[in-house]
Amino acid sequence: MSIRGKVLIFIFSVLIVVGGVGLANSNFGFEGDLAEWGEYFPLQYQSFLKNGEMASTEFGGSEPVSKLDQAVYLKELYAGMPFSVEYKEDRGHVYAMDDVLDTARKKPAASCLSCKSSDIPQLVAAEGVDFYGKPFEAGVAQIENTIGCLNCHDSDTMELRIAQPMLIAALEKQGRVPEQLSNQELRTLVCAQCHVEYYFQADTKEPIYPWDKGLTVAAVEEYYDAIGFKDWTHPRSGTDLIKIQHPDYELFQSSVHAAAGVTCADCHMPVVSDGGVTYTSHWMTSPLKHLEASCTGCHQQDVDQLKERVLYTQRRTMELLERAGEANIAAIDAIEAASKKRRVNQKLLAEARALHRSAQVRFDWLAAENSAGFHNPQESLYLLGQSIDLAWQAVEKAQLAAK
Ligand code: HEC
Ligand code: HEC
Ligand code: HEC
Ligand code: HEC
Repeated sequence: MSIRGKVLIFIFSVLIVVGGVGLANSNFGFEGDLAEWGEYFPLQYQSFLKNGEMASTEFGGSEPVSKLDQAVYLKELYAGMPFSVEYKEDRGHVYAMDDVLDTARKKPAASCLSCKSSDIPQLVAAEGVDFYGKPFEAGVAQIENTIGCLNCHDSDTMELRIAQPMLIAALEKQGRVPEQLSNQELRTLVCAQCHVEYYFQADTKEPIYPWDKGLTVAAVEEYYDAIGFKDWTHPRSGTDLIKIQHPDYELFQSSVHAAAGVTCADCHMPVVSDGGVTYTSHWMTSPLKHLEASCTGCHQQDVDQLKERVLYTQRRTMELLERAGEANIAAIDAIEAASKKRRVNQKLLAEARALHRSAQVRFDWLAAENSAGFHNPQESLYLLGQSIDLAWQAVEKAQLAAK
């Protein structure tokens, strides 16, 4: 490209940075290579590279610490499935491909790559759902880039867009038109391309969002029950269980912040300034690392008070999560004991397992979401309260079954 072209593009990018002017008539046509985009959008690019930095917070952060070492009871609850072998804290976007290649968990198909690379939408456009069903290694061989600009931006206009086929499908089922979403909606929905619960369709391995009946745990559970879905059967209790994956978007739905119109980007991608130029930070990490930029645009409190408030919610949620974990283990113990009895009421035993399934899915919603309850404190404590109650009901039912 000529120097003049580059200068023009630079001016354009400064314009959108400062004024939010759209680039509807330009034509970048960038591909997945981050560095190419970085030439034209150096501030966004440099901040995106910060996703490689690693620092922990009390409950989050980016060190790939093992959740199984931190909370020993998880091994019991996930017994018989891959997450009992390895379950690590998430880290920055730049590591997504490395971490999926590195995991000790068995990878069923190329569909595991769906949230790790900006190449997926093109591969699925070219090959259809057949892409997902390929062996994992065959999928990896086709991938050149990890998560990048193309996941969220239209490379011709730089506008936000939804690229992920499974989110497009889920939105269309809700009667929404992905091309007509407002910028405000997109500031949350671009994250819902990956930070959601999903399952693989049994034959094709296509990832699907279980949203047909709604986005609450109860609605998702109802959906799974209706299709007779299970991820695995617990080896001790014999319960058909569901393993939940990072429902960050779903848990956020009914929160005070969502109701007030706050978006994921408001806290995780605050507007920052560098040498007088303001731009959107692309360092998508724990807001506890930059509370001033993330929160004080809306909140009067000082940073220490805000941090205390986050930790207040997180410590209580994690304490209750542990209690829910223990209650679920008690349910497993009681059902196992009952099922070993020579005379057992099979109907009551089935009811005990159904209660355990409901209890564990609520526990797991919180174990798998990433904010330790902060995204929605009220819903988090409600679900953990339900989980504890259902688990003890399962214990009682199992004891009754064995009488
Ligand atoms: C009101 C501010 C706010 C909003 C809005 C928000 N988050 Fe968060 N998020 C936080 C805080 C605070 C944490 C806890 C960080 C910690 O424990 O270090 C967090 C944690 C996370 C984490 C884990 C980070 C880590 O360090 O491991 C992810 C992933 C995440 N949020 C994704 C999202 C998504 C996706 C959305 C939108 C659906 C969203 N967040 C909306 C404030 C917010
Ligand atoms: C996970 C989604 C996501 C990814 C990946 C992403 N962006 Fe963004 N980007 C956003 C959001 C959200 C905004 C804010 C847009 C708005 O509110 O209008 C934004 C804004 C921008 C803007 C407009 C100017 C500004 O600073 O607000 C530019 C330019 C930009 N991004 C460049 C990039 C580049 C370059 C990359 C890759 C290195 C990238 N983005 C990757 C979500 C993303
Ligand atoms: C294409 C899929 C994808 C999209 C889109 C996406 N994420 Fe992520 N995100 C991931 C994956 C995968 C990880 C974990 C990477 C790892 O651990 O190797 C992650 C990790 C994170 C983390 C943890 C980082 C840390 O330092 O611990 C945060 C925070 C986060 N994402 C926020 C967001 C927000 C906010 C958005 C929307 C603006 C978003 N993500 C969009 C896939 C995605
Ligand atoms: C875009 C504006 C906005 C941003 C950014 C924002 N908040 Fe809020 N926050 C609100 C609004 C609005 C409410 C609801 C207040 C009300 O209705 O009285 C709220 C409520 C809260 C509450 C009380 C409700 C609850 O769920 O416990 C806490 C705590 C809180 N915010 C913390 C934070 C923290 C920490 C951050 C930064 C990581 C943050 N907020 C970022 C607008 C924002």
